[in-house]
This record gives sequence, C-alpha cells and structure tokens, in this order.
Amino acid sequence: MTKHVEVLPNKAELIERSRELVVAKVQAAIAERGRCTIALAGGSTPKPLYELLAKAAIDWERLHVFWGDERYVPADHPDSNEGMARKAWLDQVPFPAANIHPIQTNTADPEVAANQHDQALRTFFAVQPGEFPQLDVILLGMGDDGHTASLFPHTEALKVRDRLVTVGNKDGQPRLTFTAPLINAARTVIFIVAGANKRPALRGVFAETGDAELYPSRLIQPAGELWWLLDADAGAEIGVATPS
Ligand code: 6PG
Repeated sequence: MTKHVEVLPNKAELIERSRELVVAKVQAAIAERGRCTIALAGGSTPKPLYELLAKAAIDWERLHVFWGDERYVPADHPDSNEGMARKAWLDQVPFPAANIHPIQTNTADPEVAANQHDQALRTFFAVQPGEFPQLDVILLGMGDDGHTASLFPHTEALKVRDRLVTVGNKDGQPRLTFTAPLINAARTVIFIVAGANKRPALRGVFAETGDAELYPSRLIQPAGELWWLLDADAGAEIGVATPS
C-alpha cells in the first residue's frame, strides 16, 4: 500500500484537489485498460465534487459507476446516495444507462438486496467465489465517529470478510455497504474529509495503534493506493505539509 495524505487550506481547495485526482485516476484507467470502474461515496461532502466532475473531459462511455454504500431508501428519496449523485452529476452528462450500477433498495429484506448486489458485482466483474473484484477507484467519506461507507462502529458489517456487499446498521437503520475486503481490493481508495467535527475521529484513525471496531476507517488498508484528502479544519493535527 502506498499512502498519501494531503491537507488543503479550505474545503473549496479540497474539492478542487479531489476533482483533479479523481479525473487523473479515471483517465489513467481508461488509457491503460479501456475502461474505469469507480464507486462513489455518499453523504454531503462529495456533492460539490460530483458537480465539478459533470464538467470534466471524461469519455462517459468508458466509465462505470457504482456506490460504496446506500441508504435503504428509494432513489428519489432525499437521503439516497444514488439520487444525490444523479442530480449533481450523472443526469447532467450523456452517461449510458448501462454504465450506472446502483445498489437496488426495492426489496423488503435488506439481506436480499445485499445478496442481489453482491451477485451483480460478481457477474459484472466476472469473479469467482472467494475472489474480490478490483475496482479502479473507490471514493470514501468518513463520519465523525470514524465510520466509512456504511461500516459503523461495533457493527457486524465490520467482521464480514467473505462477501462483497453486506447490510450495515446505522442506529438501527439498515444500510447496504461494500465490505472492507472489497474496498481494500481497489487499485486506488480516496478519502475526502472536511470539517473540524471530523478531527477527533481522524486522531483515532491515524493513531499508530487503535481499535478498528471503534474507528472502522482503520480497516481501509488497500493493497494499492490510499489517499487521504483533508481540509485544514479536519486535518489540522495530521502531520503533513500542505502541498504548495
Ligand atoms: C453515507 C456515506 C458515509 C459518509 C460519511 C461522511 O452514506 O452517508 O457513505 O460514509 O461518507 O458519513 O458524510 P458527510 O460527507 O456528510 O460528512
């Protein structure tokens, strides 16, 4: 794993740096392998990034979009990660519908939905049982409790090692989430974190030793590249120079 940590002076510069890095990684994947597979983060931080990506010079035909997690709501629900990304980006550009791979949340049982998406990923990536597909880019946020995707502290989802997708749990509410091993199989994982409220959790995540049950983002140790892009409010105590 190669780990990169950058602290940007403010959120606007964090989003611009995120745009620059994501576009570079997408274009490199397309140049090298003819396509790029990317999983999007939910929450609020990445929305302005997605709005900028809608203006990027990317061959949309060669980009396939997934989500690292999803709330268990319909796509037109205000909490939907799919809905947010479609409004900010995907519906604003000529994306082939077949290139967008949302996590379906229309079954009564979240476990069924998790199994369905697990299978859909295995089919798309043509992986065998026990294998984990290697996405090119996975974007992640981090909650102020140290969670990422929908891998929340002290939940069963943190222990799942033999599946691609599982059911997460936020305060009793079901979520669907990529598992830690699926995230760690990616070529490039990019955390985008902003805000002083994230500072305590970052301390726990970046500490030399610590408990991943308490700070699940500690589980994210990809074999490829790990990028932490932080704004100064979040990353003030993380000892790296702000790139000039
Ligand atoms: C979600 C996200 C989640 C998010 C963090 C940070 O579905 O909410 O996948 O992991 O990235 O909670 O959220 P903010 O960007 O809103 O702080």
